[in-house]
Amino acid sequence: MAKSYFRNLLTAVGVALDGGARQREAERQSELARLTIRDGRAIPQHIAIIMDGNGRWATQRHLPRAVGHPAGVEALRRVVQLANDYSVPMLTVYAFSTENWGRPQEEVDALMRLMWETIRTDVDRLNREGVRLRHIGRLEGLAQDVRDAIAWMQDLTRDNDKLTLNVCFNYGGRVEIVDAVRAIVAAGIPTEQVTEELIERHLYTHGLPDPDLVIRTAGEMRLSNYLIWQAAYAEYYSTPTLWPDFDRDDFVAALDAFAQRKRKFGKLDTQVAPATPQPVAASTLARPLAEGAR
Ligand code: FPP
Repeated sequence: MAKSYFRNLLTAVGVALDGGARQREAERQSELARLTIRDGRAIPQHIAIIMDGNGRWATQRHLPRAVGHPAGVEALRRVVQLANDYSVPMLTVYAFSTENWGRPQEEVDALMRLMWETIRTDVDRLNREGVRLRHIGRLEGLAQDVRDAIAWMQDLTRDNDKLTLNVCFNYGGRVEIVDAVRAIVAAGIPTEQVTEELIERHLYTHGLPDPDLVIRTAGEMRLSNYLIWQAAYAEYYSTPTLWPDFDRDDFVAALDAFAQRKRKFGKLDTQVAPATPQPVAASTLARPLAEGAR
């Protein structure tokens, strides 16, 4: 009698302590069910994102521009979770371009600090969640503390394979090609051996699959020197949503748009097979929406 009383009491305390987390998970699952992708849809295996509109988001709120960037980090955290929810195995984000050095020094400093702080605050959790973090871009030009943080995040998460998050920081597509050409010339490789594959092997992204989908927020429709080699056959998607506001609805809308595209890779309609649906995690398909439910 006393034993079962204490057992029940312990269970009740456990439930109370755990209640918040369970409630949050239940809300997440029900949100997932509401916006789940219909069974059989093609899911992009690599999404590249131009996270635009942080400055406008802050200005609209009468806040200093720099406030928009931490809000952008919050959006990035959401999107990493969404990529997991929808079984997208690779994300690449444009966090600082080689052209961004031309911004006011105060904003450049804020972005450098934010990169360092975000790595320090988020990497342990991302590591526990199985996320592999990689830096894409030039290390030269970055302060030593930022370089150390980058090296640490890459080393720590090296063996993770649930999701890869590539952070383009001090990245520019043209500079990347210049660096590749320099390495090829320096290696004395004869011109007849210069092929697309050889150039690919000398890009920062060597070994990574090309992006299937490039998303740009804030209504802009430019590539802005982003993955200009790798995105040659990517599908493009632009949304008016400012990056800090980018949420599940926006993410699903981008996946929906992608699923409706027919990728031809320069061939004829009749030559390309219909998009092969990628396997999607059971949780994502727990309760697929009926056809036409949206
Ligand atoms: C473009 O918005 C955004 C950037 C130049 C920086 C993007 C950085 C983040 C979202 C933070 C994530 C960073 C880390 C460190 C992982 P904008 O400022 O050009 O916006 P605007 O066009 O409205 O002015």
